[in-house]
Amino acid sequence: MSKPERADLESLSDLCTPWCLHVAVTLGIAEHIAAGHDRIEPLAAAAQCDARVLHCMLGHLVSKGVFEEPELGRFTLNDAARDLLNPAARIGLDLDGIGGRMAFAWGTLLTFVRTGASGYHEVFGRPFWEDLEAHPAVAASFDALIGAVGHGTPSAEFQISGGWDSVKTVVDVGGGTGGMLAEVLRAHLHVRGILVDVPRAVAQADEVFQSAGVADRATAVGRSFFDPLPGDADLYLLRGVLNNWPDREAAALLRNCARAAGTSGRVVILKSVGPDGEPRRLTVDMVLVGGRHRSISEFRDLARESGLEVTAAGKQSAYYVVECRVAASGGKS
Ligand SMILES: C[S@@+](CC[C@H](N)C(=O)[O-])C[C@H]1O[C@@H](n2cnc3c(N)ncnc32)[C@H](O)[C@@H]1O
Repeated sequence: MSKPERADLESLSDLCTPWCLHVAVTLGIAEHIAAGHDRIEPLAAAAQCDARVLHCMLGHLVSKGVFEEPELGRFTLNDAARDLLNPAARIGLDLDGIGGRMAFAWGTLLTFVRTGASGYHEVFGRPFWEDLEAHPAVAASFDALIGAVGHGTPSAEFQISGGWDSVKTVVDVGGGTGGMLAEVLRAHLHVRGILVDVPRAVAQADEVFQSAGVADRATAVGRSFFDPLPGDADLYLLRGVLNNWPDREAAALLRNCARAAGTSGRVVILKSVGPDGEPRRLTVDMVLVGGRHRSISEFRDLARESGLEVTAAGKQSAYYVVECRVAASGGKS
């Protein structure tokens, strides 16, 4: 294996470029240029900002390969700048929406590293999930980011032990606006689905189910997943959810799934657990919510504490899939 090039600390620690990109997106600079406002004065007027500072900011981005300045004070789009017109890039970078929450959350990293708990409330006054409930426009951009516009159509390509034939009902716990459940139902035509998420997110599910052609097999329940879950389903799916919570809440959520699944159901975890020995990485969702991706050994301990035992675990296509069932001594009697 070739040795990586020596890291350049100065460019790695320079915050100028990421902030210029966020501000350019928030001001809609690429859109204004695409609409013909290519000279700095009309561009600044269209974006309602200071022309001299905007000129410096765009000059910096040009030096980094985003936008071109064919003559002093006139800007055009290059391929990188055109990427900023993509709705997914816009949602992730717009400081007025979830992009701003993610950007400013990095300022709380010191607290997270020192204490192991999210410092998000230090900047926004409340923990992340409560902050979303208090700010509907930010919440809408979060839903869009994790939905089809942002992260794309989720993959339902994963197998479960014994196959899908015996599964009649799936509950997607914390399934957002229903994109994953819709894909599961499209892939398994005999399955019915129940989405559980906060009322705001499930309010959009009907449209998602209709456009996927699965509305006749899907329902949605707007409630906290810490409250009792719909019972007696064959499979409780947690995709990209358990990693959002510290151990205490993650165990409570697993216990809740175990209670609903009883002895006949199973709990399937995606995007939250990986094999032992996998390199550790920091991601922005950890900083936002103080959650963690767990190794399978760590997860086995958490599952045991929650009345579940891991019955299968392994990498399949896009996912590391973990299946659990109520342990002989735990869950619903
Ligand atoms: C990272 S998203 C994952 C969404 C979806 N499972 C996916 O894979 O795209 C986490 C989800 O948990 C939901 N959530 C957070 N707290 C919740 C709660 N107390 N009750 C129900 N849903 C909750 C959020 O609304 C969000 O949809």
